[in-house]
Amino acid sequence: MSTAYKTYQRAQDLGTPAGDVGTRLIDLTIDGVEVTVPEGTTVLRAAALNGINIPKLCATDSLEPFGSCRLCLVEIEGMKGLPASCTTEAKAGMKVTTQNAKVAKTRRNVMELYISDHPLDCLTCPTNGDCELQDMAGAVGLREVRYGYAGENHLDAKKDTSNPYFTFDPSKCIVCSRCVRACEEVQGTFALTIQGRGFESKVSPSQNQPFLDSECVSCGACVQACPTATLTENGLIEKGVPEHSVVTTCAYCGVGCSFRAEMKGQEVVRMVPNKDGHANHGHSCVKGRFSFGYATHKDRIKKPMIRETIHEPWREVSWDEAFTFAANKIKGIQAKYGKGSVGGITSSRCTNEETYLVQKLVRAAFGNNNVDTCARVCHSPTGFGLKATLGESAGTQAFDSVMKSDVIIVIGANPTDAHPVFASQMKRRLREGANLIVLDPREIDLVRSAHVEADYHLQLRPSTNVAVVNALAHVIMSEGLENKEFIAERCDNEGFRAWREFILDPVNSPEHVFEETGVAPELARGAARLYASKPNGAIYYGLGVTEHSQGSTTVMAIANLAMCTGNIGREGVGVNPLRGQNNVQGSCDMGSFPHELPGYRHVSDPAVRALFGKEWGVEIQPHPGMRIPNMFDAAVAGTFKAMYIQGEDVAQSDPDTHHVTKALSSLECMIVQDIFLNETAKFATVFLPGSSFLEKDGTFTNAERRISPVRKVMEPLAGLADWEVTQRLAQALGYPMSYTHPREIMDEIARLTPTFTGVSYAKLDELGSIQWPCNDKAINGTPTMHIGEFVRGKGLFKVTPYVPTDEVTTRKYPLLLTTGRILSQYNVGAQTRRTENGKWHDEDVLEIHPHDAEQRGIEDGDWVGLQSRAGETVLRAVISERIQPGVVYTTFHHPFSGANVVTTDNSDWATNCPEYKVTAVQASKVTKLSDWQQKFAKFTEEQLGYLDRARRPEKIS
Ligand code: SF4
Ligand code: SF4
Ligand code: SF4
Ligand code: FES
Repeated sequence: MSTAYKTYQRAQDLGTPAGDVGTRLIDLTIDGVEVTVPEGTTVLRAAALNGINIPKLCATDSLEPFGSCRLCLVEIEGMKGLPASCTTEAKAGMKVTTQNAKVAKTRRNVMELYISDHPLDCLTCPTNGDCELQDMAGAVGLREVRYGYAGENHLDAKKDTSNPYFTFDPSKCIVCSRCVRACEEVQGTFALTIQGRGFESKVSPSQNQPFLDSECVSCGACVQACPTATLTENGLIEKGVPEHSVVTTCAYCGVGCSFRAEMKGQEVVRMVPNKDGHANHGHSCVKGRFSFGYATHKDRIKKPMIRETIHEPWREVSWDEAFTFAANKIKGIQAKYGKGSVGGITSSRCTNEETYLVQKLVRAAFGNNNVDTCARVCHSPTGFGLKATLGESAGTQAFDSVMKSDVIIVIGANPTDAHPVFASQMKRRLREGANLIVLDPREIDLVRSAHVEADYHLQLRPSTNVAVVNALAHVIMSEGLENKEFIAERCDNEGFRAWREFILDPVNSPEHVFEETGVAPELARGAARLYASKPNGAIYYGLGVTEHSQGSTTVMAIANLAMCTGNIGREGVGVNPLRGQNNVQGSCDMGSFPHELPGYRHVSDPAVRALFGKEWGVEIQPHPGMRIPNMFDAAVAGTFKAMYIQGEDVAQSDPDTHHVTKALSSLECMIVQDIFLNETAKFATVFLPGSSFLEKDGTFTNAERRISPVRKVMEPLAGLADWEVTQRLAQALGYPMSYTHPREIMDEIARLTPTFTGVSYAKLDELGSIQWPCNDKAINGTPTMHIGEFVRGKGLFKVTPYVPTDEVTTRKYPLLLTTGRILSQYNVGAQTRRTENGKWHDEDVLEIHPHDAEQRGIEDGDWVGLQSRAGETVLRAVISERIQPGVVYTTFHHPFSGANVVTTDNSDWATNCPEYKVTAVQASKVTKLSDWQQKFAKFTEEQLGYLDRARRPEKIS
């Protein structure tokens, strides 16, 4: 499969989905040609599969057949009238005629009716050249419209331009319902209806509201489905029909949706979800579909910059000067303070190849193992917990597996906001009848939304995950609901015996932990019975599990739960971490941790060190290097002096901002590689301009271990792709790197990493994407792991005692703060804040329960001071019953909100993953910004002034 199309063409539409076709093939005749299709295929699709395109309007292969437009009718021998081919199943021996005078006349009549209420402004219409109605008028041979335009029509219907990304022009609507069905079937939001009957019928968002005010979440599924110019991307309206397209992968979340970047020259006209994408099957969310404008935002920094200290202006320099400056600093610091005084952070937003190069640079050119990644602050407990129990540090399933689940547990994750395309798929399965159990302190959307309702919402107190998951396992074991056969055959018996004894202890019963967790025992018992009683139970979890002092313990408790019910090793089951950033799985796979080389192999293993040492021509240090928090502590202590940070914004994303910024200010040299002057770059002395995902080749690995291609659609705005920047920095340090294309980096990764030996760009082009492990044992990859045997041999039950966090509420700090994400913003917001997504969320707010608000005299919209042991910030209050009394909630997408000024440096006992999800706080009504916010504003002004002076040196007197 080629990933680039020379000229623009709409993706092929087979008219109806493949559906539940059988394995049996049937023969029929279409227009005299004998064709063979799987049993259950519609006549429309059977024809399309064989190159016969029957005209259609209301049918499309992403939606169930509807049969309303009557354009696809055909003649079938032995059948009365002219049946609609989109709703007629192909049968063995059928004889179909798709074109004759009778059929043609009827189709023309149908089309004439549509066109008589359609503005004939094709030449000036934005979708001229990309309109199915126009194509169909041509296909049916429409030559005249006899009904005229004098009668009643909709030609003056007003446009709705409220959505920043697409326009709704009802004057062009043919009321085919494709948009309504897309919103229901594909997205699962049910924001659209057809109001009225007959001539009065019209598409209506929610209660006849503008799109922006409706329940619409701007996923774009309706725009994608619309066969006319009624729902059209603003990019297309402004720029016209694209002239070529390139298949690439979304750079936002861990779902890893595949897109066609539809281009005019070097300009993106629109991003269209790829129907062949294995993670998304043609669906998208607002971020991937529409929020790509940041890539060409005016804030992009396109020239390298250097300075001696952070309190002086930047100086724009050539790439050569920047590399020489940076390399001399690093070499000087290492000569003065030792090899270990420098380190690096890889980026989970960059490609696998780029991440691999950064850790290679640290290990080979810096000569130490001081490399870490943002997974430290998100899913490092997943790596630890799953490796210890199952033997591999990654999720067990493909996303599609959820379509075979009978019961789904969602723990500490909010998929509709953070992993929206997967959430749509999960909701589809729930609408089909699967049961749902949600463990979350907050009433997330999944608990109750259109046509979806959780069977159990265990609204636990933050920090009590381990107690609740143990309680579920206690019920299963004490009521004899475990899968004895699976345990005996597949699991380590000694480990199981020890765990069994532990879990049956009454201290783990729902009744005993009720006071601590707040979860009613009968709910915990009901949920446990439900999970254990269904054939296929799947667990999905997120940062609400990992970002705790007991994150690793909860991951192991989840693995125990899955193993004791036999829910591992086939489709429909499993343990599935929902990864946050687009390539956080990949950055972990690529050896970004200080103790592991690529493929999760410990640096203390001499054979592994020898393998990499030989390939890289260096001796690899045998001891683990520093984790991010260790680097910060050492910087404050004065023993760690320089960092190279690629595409991470630790000053905003990491906890305890006071400590982080003190550490960053203590460095003698900080090299930041990014596309914007982010919060961290304000503390940098070298700025190396980064490249967006549109400007480079490489691969991302999503939450289901799927390696997908990232393909360059425009030249790097600063002249170099990120992998080239790292390579040039290594060269300046005297370490040779000479890759000419990222494909060569992937070849090196494949040579050195057993789970990647079968991966190559050629195979990615052929298959579209590959789930690792991909090697001799699994030549096309591995959708489901641990089939027949766990990666570690026998599954290992781990004893998981509940140890309450030290972060407890007191009279001074009586509330618990927990944090999360929202749909329209992404992580630190550096990208999404530079798009129109601010229309939905332009500031972080504090959700507080009415009871807690009333006690404090706080009203909706008031400024609230939030104090913790670590610091204080001020946010606007939103009074909400989604959160339980005693708990407050915020997001961290805006630097000025300072959510991480408040979070503490408590962390997971095994991995140091910060305890973002639990901070004891007090909230009170205030009238002015916090001291930190005032200092932040001043510092930001100073730094932006330095940037401004660098960009406009001629204006400096
Ligand atoms: S807006 Fe488009 S998809 Fe929806 S009913 Fe009208 S023409 Fe059909
Ligand atoms: S953009 Fe998505 S959520 Fe909004 S109306 Fe269309 S399909 Fe529904
Ligand atoms: S779900 Fe994630 S990967 Fe898919 S389009 Fe949205 S942000 Fe991108
Ligand atoms: S395409 Fe078959 S009835 Fe509309």
